[in-house]
Amino acid sequence: MVELARRRLGERGTVVVADMTDFDLGRRFDGAVSPINTLLHLTPAQLAHHLECMARHLQPDARYLVQVGLIEPDQRKPFAGSHWEASRGDVRLTVAWVDEELDAAHGRSRQRSRIEVLEGERAGEIIEEVHDMTAWTPATWTDALEASPFGEVATYDGRKGGQWPRVEPTATGSLLWHELARR
Ligand SMILES: C[S@@+](CC[C@H](N)C(=O)[O-])C[C@H]1O[C@@H](n2cnc3c(N)ncnc32)[C@H](O)[C@@H]1O
Repeated sequence: MVELARRRLGERGTVVVADMTDFDLGRRFDGAVSPINTLLHLTPAQLAHHLECMARHLQPDARYLVQVGLIEPDQRKPFAGSHWEASRGDVRLTVAWVDEELDAAHGRSRQRSRIEVLEGERAGEIIEEVHDMTAWTPATWTDALEASPFGEVATYDGRKGGQWPRVEPTATGSLLWHELARR
């Protein structure tokens, strides 16, 4: 993935491999984006380190846009999940990302990704991974931000297509975008 990103970006950007809870790029940026529920991979303690680190890398008036889904405190039904098919050249595959378990009370969720290669040299191969992730409610997410250098200046619902409507910070859903600014 790193090589692919480097090839695609060419001279237009730099790809850095690092632990997002502890990195030092030696400069500040005008903005940052974290898509696809990436921050759910971090425990609350790791998220705190990540946000400290991000604050050191952003200009004072910069925005940090993060896509992090939030669940209801008593939610039981699956939170994340999608299926899609992809192909390039003679390779075709399906990807399934499913929620296996959600423990809202402890803020944990277990998710499974399954890639099945349908056509191409590796046809028949199945790649499965289990991901233990954090499940945030609006209240626990707000508390985590309050203990961090960031405040949430706006929340958007990314499900709606086109212009994303602004929603209350108490909104739940899997495709919420949070606009964070340093306090
Ligand atoms: C949802 S994926 C995002 C991938 C990429 N941003 C993209 O657009 O395709 C989240 C990625 O974060 C990685 N990850 C989890 N914990 C990490 C950490 N502490 N530091 C860096 N990456 C981490 C996971 O392995 C996973 O590949």
